[in-house]
Amino acid sequence: MCGIFGYVGHRDALKILMDGLKRLEYRGYDSSGVVVQNGHGLVAAKRRGRLDALEAEVRSRPFGGHTGLGHTRWATHGGVSDANAHPHFSCDGKIAVVHNGIIENFAELRKDLERRHRFLSGTDTEVIPHLVEELYEQAEGDILFAVTLAVGRLRGSWAMGVLHADHPNRLSVARVNCPLVLGLGDGENFLASDIPSLLPYTRRVIPLDENELSTIGPEGIQIFDRHLTAKARAPLDIDWTAEAAGKNGHPHFMAQEIDAQPRTVAAEVEAWGRSVPDLRLARDVDRVMVIACGTAWHAGLVAKAALEEMVRIPVEVGLASELRYGDHPFGPRTLAFAISQSGETADTLASVRMARESGSPILALTNVKGCTLAREADHVLYMRAGPETGVAATKSYTSQLVNILFLALHLGRERGTLSPERFEALTREAGFLGTHIGRILRQDPLVRQCARTFQEGYGFMFMGRRYNLATAYEGALKMKEITYLPSEGYGAGEMKHGPLSLVDERMVCVAITPRGRVKEKMISNIQEVRSRGGRIVSVATEGDHAVAEVSDHVFEIPSCEEMFSPILAVIPLQLLAYHRAVGLGRDVDRPRNLAKSVTVE
Ligand code: AGP
Repeated sequence: MCGIFGYVGHRDALKILMDGLKRLEYRGYDSSGVVVQNGHGLVAAKRRGRLDALEAEVRSRPFGGHTGLGHTRWATHGGVSDANAHPHFSCDGKIAVVHNGIIENFAELRKDLERRHRFLSGTDTEVIPHLVEELYEQAEGDILFAVTLAVGRLRGSWAMGVLHADHPNRLSVARVNCPLVLGLGDGENFLASDIPSLLPYTRRVIPLDENELSTIGPEGIQIFDRHLTAKARAPLDIDWTAEAAGKNGHPHFMAQEIDAQPRTVAAEVEAWGRSVPDLRLARDVDRVMVIACGTAWHAGLVAKAALEEMVRIPVEVGLASELRYGDHPFGPRTLAFAISQSGETADTLASVRMARESGSPILALTNVKGCTLAREADHVLYMRAGPETGVAATKSYTSQLVNILFLALHLGRERGTLSPERFEALTREAGFLGTHIGRILRQDPLVRQCARTFQEGYGFMFMGRRYNLATAYEGALKMKEITYLPSEGYGAGEMKHGPLSLVDERMVCVAITPRGRVKEKMISNIQEVRSRGGRIVSVATEGDHAVAEVSDHVFEIPSCEEMFSPILAVIPLQLLAYHRAVGLGRDVDRPRNLAKSVTVE
């Protein structure tokens, strides 16, 4: 959950490193640092706090140099301090290391190394430069060999960049269980923790595979396996634009990404209309286990409702952080359906590997080409949401839902559990989803006003049923994630089993109540809350007066089949969380304590 950026080429390394770190700051932002080889040795700066603190430090110092590494940190081992910021150095000051991940055996390594080396930080990472320093002589001055020997002593997860003062135009990298992407330029090359941060410089990328190492120079890159056997890897051409990864005039990435949904949802629908992915993998299974975390897990709940309704097979939705330590009986007849925007979530990857070992076919739904999940799945459904930078998932969630519903539609038709007529009607209706979202977004002023009405001293709870149980959970996650205020989602039928005790006149209950099988039940639940003084904000189908009459505020969504309603109902909830967080002065794109991609467990 840190961000790493590296450059080797002909341009001013510091400028490129700082720009790259700005694009990676969403991955971790409690401290940052840079190191450059300026022809005479290593020059470095590192500071606790946001990237601005580092910028103030380097602005006044002429770094020079065309090779360097940068790091933005999300603290795991060792508090937030200048000393614990990366890069970390060997005793002779000649080796600099930046690292994302966790070195699980750092304590035993440090106990041994401390007998010969002076440690300056409390981090797990600092064992790496001292190890490389010790092994450099054994490697006879071959820095990549020294790094290879060092990582052979490590346990845990790492994406690391290593710079040696005696190798001015050379970066060495290694990865295990953490993403690292190489960017290929003209007479210059890059490394980064994600693809979007490379887009201003190149769209030709090579995501490193597990246990791969690489040496990067201005003339090119070489990739090796852990035994230093050379590997040929073809670059991917990324069709994302840097603009898509930018704010496009919005105050926050999250606002841009919410606003992009009419287009991203329409793009998903159009893609399924153009070509249907090969679904043989899922055709003969008799059960599904969804593997996911966070928002992706909420999408899994919609997958459960949709697959059980249209394909008539049982679906479980497993929290990856639980599955990986459990004993679920995966097997050839159980489809492991992994949902992950980043494709790098450690818990999800660990559960996928567990499912694979038990013989389950692995279907992945992800947003990032060449991500670890994509490389480990038997079949991949790629979303077309484009780069999502805001830590709070928005457009990636609605893109996941569209893909999930189309997967269920096509599997239902292929397995004969969905009539051709119903299939045609539903796919036709899906064509309007992008337009519907555009109409919902026009209610933004109403949502902003509602957020202001309940700004001070109100608690929020969200309730929904069936397809919109997920919406209740997702609305609550958005709210808590970026406002830092307690906020929970509940199955509406569960309220009387406990949560109703939370209701009083300072509690705002968001009731997701579109037309559908459970609408009348939802109105009863609304009444339960109102009779105890709770305030009601409803998401209802346009023109549904029955819901409006029992609500203090109503956000309307166009009429649609219940299965599509989670895609529409979540939009006002994204806006509600966004406006409440902005009203509270929160850092919407980089909420405290969180990171966009949880690459450590
Ligand atoms: C959602 O807003 C959060 N960013 C978080 O819960 C996220 O959904 C979760 O970490 C899973 O990420 P993934 O989809 O990249 O695996």
